[in-house]
Amino acid sequence: MRSVRDIKLFENIPILVRAPLNVPVENGVVTNDYRLRRALPTIKFLSEKGARVILIGHIGEKGTETLAPVADALSKLISGVSFFPETIGERARAAIRDLVPGNILVLENLRRNSGEKNNDKNFARELAGLGDIFVQDSFDTCHRTHASIVGVPEILPSYAGLLLEEEVRELTSALKPKSPSLAVIGGAKFSTKEPVLEKLLEIYDKVFVGGALANDFLKAHGTDVKKSLVSNAGQEAIKKILSNKKLVLPIDFVMKDEMILDSGVGTSALLNDLAKKAKTIIWNGPLGNYENGFVGATNAFAQSVANSKAHSIIGGGDTIAAIEQLGIMSDFSFVSTGGGAMLNFLAQGTLPGIKALN
Ligand code: 3PG
Repeated sequence: MRSVRDIKLFENIPILVRAPLNVPVENGVVTNDYRLRRALPTIKFLSEKGARVILIGHIGEKGTETLAPVADALSKLISGVSFFPETIGERARAAIRDLVPGNILVLENLRRNSGEKNNDKNFARELAGLGDIFVQDSFDTCHRTHASIVGVPEILPSYAGLLLEEEVRELTSALKPKSPSLAVIGGAKFSTKEPVLEKLLEIYDKVFVGGALANDFLKAHGTDVKKSLVSNAGQEAIKKILSNKKLVLPIDFVMKDEMILDSGVGTSALLNDLAKKAKTIIWNGPLGNYENGFVGATNAFAQSVANSKAHSIIGGGDTIAAIEQLGIMSDFSFVSTGGGAMLNFLAQGTLPGIKALN
């Protein structure tokens, strides 16, 4: 992977940067700028070297949202930022031509064009035509095979940004944990978590499964989960994982309307004990129904990890929101900007968007 530091010429060169711009927005205002702050080192690096910095990215699932509030939030973190409400085409190219060296232009949401998700060759060519060099710094989307992730690097000389480099370095080190090691995976949807669970069970000493994901294992184990959320797929794989001695499951629960919505204080004490002894901890995904206010187990475990001396690596939107709200982010060794990308990287040791740079 060539680094942004290996680029030879910067001055006045239009450099296209795929940046982590997919941040939460409410009523036209960014409510969490964590990813933008993590994008700053690469943007600053290129801007200080006098490049014309063109930021491309997506926001939201469907392409209906605008990146205007994101450009606004970014302009509060670094000077020289402007927004252009189109992604490709002559007017976008003219805006890039007019860009003062060192300044930063944010283009409109890539997903407004269906060519982005379809990795359409023409769309990739249009995007690549906007710059002379491509820098990938959106680790959070490197698990997607979209035009701006895998299409553009086929066309332009391509480099990894500083954030992407750090993500790869840290998550690669998480694949060689120091014992005793603890992995904690929460959230839902067994099908998306199965590969990472299998990988972590190979290399970690203990793998705790929490959140709605745990319901599948509890049910297969014979616990009456009543009306709790379960995914009925993958029963064979669930049984195989269940037979692994390294697997740890919640031992008590918070229930409402006959549904398990969080794990209880007994589980938190068990996790605290494991965290205290661990030398490496990796964690992705909330341990309860976090979005609907069942935050007890997630917050308790966040505190346990913060208090432990382990090398701690965490990721996932709700997990980061929890530690930010508790004001304990600096107590973690590394906080990944990836959710699904982090899990896929751990499962495969690389991602399509990283392979595309080689
Ligand atoms: C994320 O937030 O996980 C990434 O930005 C990817 O977004 P997506 O799930 O909409 O592709």
